[in-house]
Amino acid sequence: MTTCPSTTEAGDASELRAQLVEQLRANHHIRSAAVERAFRAVPRHAFAPDSTLEAAYTDDIVATRRRDDGTITSSISAPWLQAEMLEAARIQPGHRVLEIGSGGYNAALIAELTGPTGHVTTLDIDPAVTERAARFLPETGYDGVRVVTADAEHMPSTVVPEGGFDAVVVTVDTWDLPWIDSLADGGRLVAPLRLHGYHWAIGFTKENGALHSDEPFIVCGFVAMQGDGAWNPNRLTVPGTGVHLSWEDGTPLPVDQLAPALTREPTVTRTGITVGGQEPFDLLTLYLAGALPGFCRLEADPEGEHRVPSPPPPHWPAAAIVRGASLARLAHERVGDGDDGKGRHEFVVHGYGDQGHLAAREMAEQVETWQDNHRGGHCPLITARPAAGRDPAGPDHEPHVFAKKHTHITVDWPIVPSDTAPSHRPRFKERRRMSGGTA
Ligand SMILES: C[S@@+](CC[C@H](N)C(=O)[O-])C[C@H]1O[C@@H](n2cnc3c(N)ncnc32)[C@H](O)[C@@H]1O
Repeated sequence: MTTCPSTTEAGDASELRAQLVEQLRANHHIRSAAVERAFRAVPRHAFAPDSTLEAAYTDDIVATRRRDDGTITSSISAPWLQAEMLEAARIQPGHRVLEIGSGGYNAALIAELTGPTGHVTTLDIDPAVTERAARFLPETGYDGVRVVTADAEHMPSTVVPEGGFDAVVVTVDTWDLPWIDSLADGGRLVAPLRLHGYHWAIGFTKENGALHSDEPFIVCGFVAMQGDGAWNPNRLTVPGTGVHLSWEDGTPLPVDQLAPALTREPTVTRTGITVGGQEPFDLLTLYLAGALPGFCRLEADPEGEHRVPSPPPPHWPAAAIVRGASLARLAHERVGDGDDGKGRHEFVVHGYGDQGHLAAREMAEQVETWQDNHRGGHCPLITARPAAGRDPAGPDHEPHVFAKKHTHITVDWPIVPSDTAPSHRPRFKERRRMSGGTA
């Protein structure tokens, strides 16, 4: 039975909702009248009955389900990210829309956008999540939304309308995009896509059977995909060193032979290229991941038996490459205070092992290529093509192509004209915030 909120509570909720909408507009996360109307209409607190009103209307996630170890497995995503993704989905009245990863609130926002002539399906692998969504949606007046319990890796054919969905909004961290066939030609797909452990929400349009990105990247984090689409971090430990290497994309290389290299002082190759203390460089690491064969990500236990100076933080493992019994790793050294007092850092590459200096030089050259040709430019263009039909015996490393289970993802890096002033170039969205509480 639903308890009716008191008049005061309902008034408070409306006021807090209006304040949140103003904040999302002021920060340009809400840009269209339709998305604004949706946010004004849907009572977010009704989908978070265990939270305070203030928490429900803060621009942050509301965790709704955790494992025993505290890991969040379901949440109402942060409003700023929901607004960005709904803007990118370009949903129109009458559209048929699929939401992957449920909870109810975002599905209700989508239902506001599709209107009475549209159709919304929201799908989740966790029956406890769909049970809540199936309860909250009718309670708030969105009883037309279809709620489905299934693993999104195996899209039930009965869920997909004839001709495909007009839009698919993926609200769970995904390593692959197995939904191309569920989308109508010309349809939109918005998803937080993982490439070598880095993740961005990206908007695509389907054309000629492939997905083509056409929205700026949004740095974000969602809860992890479960079920058969869960990714394999391919995390290997170099014996006796406390150093771990992950190949989330690409074929893992042997690591046992790296132990002697990691217990000796590294060489340092300087690049002369600097970055501000608050300036993200995720796009550099994506560039390196595509450019360098043997790319992986390195973590080092602070107390491990290794010579990795300033080990990277666990959630942001460093870019690295393996070359036989040698290894190179991207690092940075403080070289000044920076204009904002947050420090200015130079990219340096540490080389481990007999050939470590050569591996470091190879990585440093790619940092220079990125600096000269791509830094501060447009977002790279991402194309996802079905993997079926690709030659399985093709080359091990095709530059800037990530071979997934269902798709091959190509990253095209536009060249920045040398006479373009950095301030005039569009940039990717730099806000680093979590939607789902994991990184
Ligand atoms: C961030 S929550 C979804 C948030 C929701 N869209 C909202 O209203 O804000 C992510 C959801 O993805 C679900 N999920 C994880 N793996 C899945 C899979 N393989 N198929 C479908 N849903 C999955 C989780 O159970 C979780 O509820």
